[in-house]
Amino acid sequence: MILALETSCDDTCAALVAADGAVAANVISSQEAHTRFGGVVPEVAARAHLELIDHVLDEAFARAGCSLDDVELVAATRGPGLVGALLVGFATAKALAAARELPFAPVDHLAGHVAAAYLRPAVFAPPFIALIASGGHTLALAVRERGAPPEVLARTLDDAAGEAFDKGARMLGLGYPGGAALERLAADGDPLAYEFPIGRGEDFSFAGLKTALLYKARELDLDSQQVRADLAASYQRAIVEALALRVERALERTGLGRLALGGGVAANGALRARLGGLGVELFLPPLELCTDNAAMIASAAFDIEPLAYPSYLDLDVYATGEGPLR
Ligand code: KG4
Ligand code: ZN
Repeated sequence: MILALETSCDDTCAALVAADGAVAANVISSQEAHTRFGGVVPEVAARAHLELIDHVLDEAFARAGCSLDDVELVAATRGPGLVGALLVGFATAKALAAARELPFAPVDHLAGHVAAAYLRPAVFAPPFIALIASGGHTLALAVRERGAPPEVLARTLDDAAGEAFDKGARMLGLGYPGGAALERLAADGDPLAYEFPIGRGEDFSFAGLKTALLYKARELDLDSQQVRADLAASYQRAIVEALALRVERALERTGLGRLALGGGVAANGALRARLGGLGVELFLPPLELCTDNAAMIASAAFDIEPLAYPSYLDLDVYATGEGPLR
């Protein structure tokens, strides 16, 4: 059994995954503390992880019906993410591994999102294009072989796709995180009511789109529910089209006819429908494996050479700039 911890952002997660990729427990505790700030506050996240981590671990063992005696390998997210938040899960995992003199696997968070596809029962094997879109990252990757570093085909130059949803939602008076709320508002709107930029470059860029919404919102009467719905629908369409354009290019350039989604934005119905219309084999993991979770970290841990006790004790986390997908 692999025990994995994930604390890179605002979800405190622990999972137990068997050697064949079957998920015995996947516990996710989403921190509520950030809602009133309209975004994740790093220091608040780190403190909340500290409060939650023991309970989340206990819950994972209880759900899996096993104990530390059954664990053969401990894994944790090393980065990228918020350093203070990462440290809680990483230090806890190292301590548990060290206490039992177990091997330890430091996992890259983005490799984890890709490896969600390898978990049972719905296994999707390479080669495929992966679109990872969340509040922290936006990547189009060519995944050719399990465990080998994927090729980055497009990345974001500024905001992440989920961040674009969240900031747009905020301008339309919706709460945080706003992606799902914006999608609900957009359901009654006309996606062609307003024109928003999607960018034509190689990479993703959502900063201009956000500014365009700000200016448009200033011109219009936001007290009108129809105007707000039309704005939400048009804005959502622009994000979806920006993502779809890079995915289409990635499929074309690599000749791969298979696509896997990951990250919280994969929950978006408009995005799923748009990518479903591409005529390629589309893999949508269950939602709890798309958003941040520790089962995906365990899955990625299978593909790296574990470090023997005690060689991992002085290992540190990274915020960004390291790891296979830097
Ligand atoms: O993967 P995730 O849970 O955490 C991060 O690593 O960020 O993704 C959260 C992001 C948030 O930005 C949220 O607004 C977005 O995913 N999201 C959505 C939807 N549900 C969540 N965006 C668009 N439509 C949705 N239905
Ligand atoms: Zn993530």
